[in-house]
Amino acid sequence: MNKDIILLRTVEVAAIASYKYIGSKDKNLVDLAAVEAFEVMLKNEKGFKLKIVNGEGELDNAPMLYVNQLLGDISNVDCPFYDVSVDPIEGTNPAAFNFAGSISTIAISKENTMLQMPEMYMEKLFVKDKYNDLVNLEEGILENVLKMQEQEMRKDLKCIVLDKPRHDEIIKSLSNMGVIVRLIKDGDVLAAIDVVNGEADFVYGIGGAPEGCLMASLAIASGCRMQCKLVHYNEIWRNEKETDSRMLKEKAWMSKHKIDTSTILNDRDLVSDDRTRFFAAGLTAGGSLKPITYKKGKFFVNAFMASHGIVRNFNSIYDVNKVNGLKPDIKFLFDKYKR
Ligand code: FBP
Repeated sequence: MNKDIILLRTVEVAAIASYKYIGSKDKNLVDLAAVEAFEVMLKNEKGFKLKIVNGEGELDNAPMLYVNQLLGDISNVDCPFYDVSVDPIEGTNPAAFNFAGSISTIAISKENTMLQMPEMYMEKLFVKDKYNDLVNLEEGILENVLKMQEQEMRKDLKCIVLDKPRHDEIIKSLSNMGVIVRLIKDGDVLAAIDVVNGEADFVYGIGGAPEGCLMASLAIASGCRMQCKLVHYNEIWRNEKETDSRMLKEKAWMSKHKIDTSTILNDRDLVSDDRTRFFAAGLTAGGSLKPITYKKGKFFVNAFMASHGIVRNFNSIYDVNKVNGLKPDIKFLFDKYKR
């Protein structure tokens, strides 16, 4: 089967498996259901091999989808290898507490083209394709916005920002500039999908670095643009128990990769493959992706895919009885995660 369909079906089935735990208040249950769906759907696929570059963590703290795990047709020496960034549930909080913002997502690119991101924060600016040539984070976000407004000859651009105390000042400044700011509690990858789907002009703010790799793949695959730079943990959380140990790990990663917090990274620094492919399916979703629903034996899932400039939005309907009759692996997941 075509790998696009396999990956699309994988994010859809991961959303279906974790549907059981929407509103459960347990982030781990939501995540584990999606992780299992990914493994079951991908482990024996033929014709391609996948290497997890950004996943659920290191081998010692993630039993599945750990960094460097191989999936797919691993014994076949002739089939191509792909790098993978995966977030089985991006936005575990929104899923566990049932508010907008969670999706299941994966991106692939040619072997050895994805940067393995550190567990740290990242300042990201993701813009619609018409602003690609204006982006320059070195000048600061407000200057970038000014240039976009000048190009448009209007002020009321639409932007999406994570609603976190660290963004209070910038939210005020953007609003004062006439920008219409949509605040989201979680889920900046979904926000970037909204930009691609025309619901906003840009996403700005400090979020997770691993999510940055997914957003970079999305930018390249959809013809948009992202620039970013890493932000140290102590800039956000000064006096936490783990601040010192996280800083040590961050510094080690940065010196190994010769990157510091002033280094401006472009989407292609994170994913150096123009043919990277990005997939997502809505869980509690929001914006341009509808939340998953279940009615009378059928799951209704909204999914999304981008590859070499083609953007697709899908409405998929899984009739549990019919699908169960066809696919034993899906039947196993549907039975196990029946709500
Ligand atoms: P999780 O999937 O790890 O729950 O991440 C959700 C998210 O909102 C991301 O979309 C965002 O990049 C990051 O968390 C922001 O981090 P924080 O919640 O620590 O501010």
